[in-house]
Formats: sequence, C-alpha cells, structure tokens
Amino acid sequence: MKLSSRSLTATAAALALTAPLWVTGANAATVTISCGSVGQDYENCKKMTADWARKTGHEVKLFTIPNSTTDILALFRQLFAAKSPDLDVVNVDVVWPGVIKDHLLDLKPYSKGVEKEHFPAIVANNTVDGKLLAMPWFTDAGLLFYRKDLVEKYGAKPPTTWEELAATAKKIQDGERAAGNKDFHGFVFQAKAYEGLTCDAVEWVHSHGGGNIVNDKGEITINNPKAVQALKTAASWIGTIAPQGVLNYAEEEARGVFQNGNAAFMRNWPYAWSLGNAKDSKISGKIGVSALPKGGASGQNAATLGGWQLAVSKYSRNPAIAADLVMFMTSAESQKYRAINGSYNPTIAALYKDKDVLAANPFFGSLYEVFTSAVPRPATATGAKYPEVSSAFWNATHDVLSGQATAEDSLKKLEGKLKQVQRGKW
Ligand code: GLC
Repeated sequence: MKLSSRSLTATAAALALTAPLWVTGANAATVTISCGSVGQDYENCKKMTADWARKTGHEVKLFTIPNSTTDILALFRQLFAAKSPDLDVVNVDVVWPGVIKDHLLDLKPYSKGVEKEHFPAIVANNTVDGKLLAMPWFTDAGLLFYRKDLVEKYGAKPPTTWEELAATAKKIQDGERAAGNKDFHGFVFQAKAYEGLTCDAVEWVHSHGGGNIVNDKGEITINNPKAVQALKTAASWIGTIAPQGVLNYAEEEARGVFQNGNAAFMRNWPYAWSLGNAKDSKISGKIGVSALPKGGASGQNAATLGGWQLAVSKYSRNPAIAADLVMFMTSAESQKYRAINGSYNPTIAALYKDKDVLAANPFFGSLYEVFTSAVPRPATATGAKYPEVSSAFWNATHDVLSGQATAEDSLKKLEGKLKQVQRGKW
C-alpha cells in the first residue's frame, strides 16, 4: 500500500515504521480509554495499554476522569447524551450496567465465550437483555485494615464486632495521643456524601441484619429498627474514634490518614493493601486485613460488592478495535499483572490459586469467601433508578452522621422519598 505523507498524522507515520505488518499507517487506529485515577489505576493502565499497542500497532490514549464514581457517572452521562465518539473504552462500576445500558455495545461477538472463565454473578450483572455489555475487570469488597503492631501493643485482638472495634479504636487512640501523636484517630472510613458512603452504610445496615435498602423483590425495606441501630452506631463514631473530617472523606482521604500512620483501623477496598505496603508507606509490613465486623453477636459479616468492568461505547468509531483492547485488558494475564501490582482482585477464580498472586496478596486466599459472598447494592432491583436510590440513601445517612437528623426520622423520610422515586415500579 502506498501512502501519501500528507494523509498521515505524525503518530500514524511513526506507527507505520514500527507496527506489525497487518496494521500499518492508515489502518492503525487511535482508541481512547478511561481506566480510573485512584490508587495505581493510572500506572497500570499506561503499562497494559502500551503492551497492547505494541502488540497490535494501534495507539491508545488515556482519558482522565475524576476519582469519585459519582462524578465519573455524571461525566459519562454527558458524553453519552452528546453521542460523543471521544471515548471508546469505558470503565463501568458494578452498579451501572442497568443505568448506562443503552450506550454500550454488545461484546458477545468479540468475547468468544471467554466470559465463562469469570465469576458467573459478575457476568450476569453485566448482561442486560441478553447482551454482554461489559467484561469483568476487577472485583472489590469492603475490608477492615488494621495496624497489627498497635493492636498487639495494646494487648487487643482484631475486632469481630463493631462494639469491639469501637472499644479497641478508643484504647489505641487514647494511648497514641497520650504518647504525643495528637493527630491519631481510631477509625477512618468513607462518609462523604457520595456512592462510597452508600457502600459503607450498606455494610453497617446489612451487618446488623437490617437488609439492603430495597430487597430483591423491589420492596423498600430500609425503614426498620436494625437499620436504625446500625446508623446510630456509626453516628456514635464521629468525633469520638473518627475525626469530624471523615464526613468529607472518600477512599483516598481515608487511605492518606491510615498510610501516614495516623489511624488504627480503616475501612477500604483491597487496593489499599499494595499501596500501604509500598516502600514509601509509613506502615509497610504493619498492616493486617480482616472481614468487616458483625453488628452485635447475632449480626453477620458484610462486605459491599464493588468492582469495575470495561465496556465499549456505542459511539466509538472503532468498535472492533476497542473490543479487542477490552478483551486484552480483562484477560487472565492482565488481571494477574494488576493483582500483583496493585492488589486489584481478579474476576477469574483460578487466579485466586496462583502462587504469585497469593504471595503479593495473602488475604486473597484467606478472605476468598468475603470476595465471593459480598453483598450487592440494590442496582439490579432498581435498574435505571439506582443512582437516585443511592443518592437518597447516602444523603439520609450523611444527615444522621452529621447530627442533622435522628436515625429514626431520617430513615422514615428516606422511605417516603424512595416511594416517590419508585412511583409504583422500578
Ligand atoms: C470502588 C468500588 C465501586 C464503588 C466505589 C465507591 O471503586 O469498586 O464499586 O462504587 O468504590 O466509591
């Protein structure tokens, strides 16, 4: 094929020299991907996409997105509304398939059945009206991170109930402050008014036996005494074992405090393990991980199910090439790399037996059940209305935590609000 230099962009010209024979010059496409910006998302994405670009001869651009899933969804909705071709491969939160389904391509023609290797519940979550709208990329579950050294120093054990957590957190906080660290806190978590608070609060409510906001049948169940108890318990932490500032913390703010050596306990997602044990972390080698506590002796352990998928936008100009990138990024090989270099939980069961993965993340093995039995937020039951349900819930919870409403009043009001959102059916 002869190409006139005028028809080539500088990038394509460069690729024509280096690319494999099957894709040269004008055949080389540029695809844009959003991978996330929390933890080691960016570095990992840069490395994996560069590997794919080398292999295929195409070019990849990384699309910068905000940290918060709530802000990312708002941004994507704008792009989709404009049918924008600016983004080819989209990262999709586990609670979004029902919300953005009309804007994603069916990946079945490209996946060649490889989705069968992934956790079936996640594949089912990503399949809407028979279409495979996204490939599982990594899964998430809320965990309790703690300072092994401090728990031992104060003669305590990793807590198994929220009451024990509060007592141990108080003991360590008092001791460390008396020893001179005035900035030390017992417990940090996510209590800013956004999707992350929904995740934390689902754990509090579920662990107390208070259900899951809306049940699988679509009934609004949140206004119940156990949920009231759960929110009261969480509110009692603010200003006692948790700083007032936690009301404005997302994942990264909590990790910052913990990783700087200023908290005994932290609720976060698995990614915090890799960064917490990195060379520049003040607490490297001192971190323990366990399931989140139970709500009282009769309560249960509950971890909210999180996680991200990769999908192709319907408005992509290069859908087949974008789908190829998705298949590469979600492959066992890529998932293994990300598990080792960032503690991102694979969605392929076999990788939980891989010795390199387990050496980097021993808790992937010991807490395997936490990952496979995590509690989904009610996104399937509420479909496209999930974002409204979640924002009503996190606002109601934030009002209780910040002392603006009692748990009883707030959940009663929330029930009314959810009925309005439901308007007869989800
Ligand atoms: C994590 C989870 C995601 C969740 C978000 C909340 O990114 O993987 O599912 O919605 O945290 O902040």
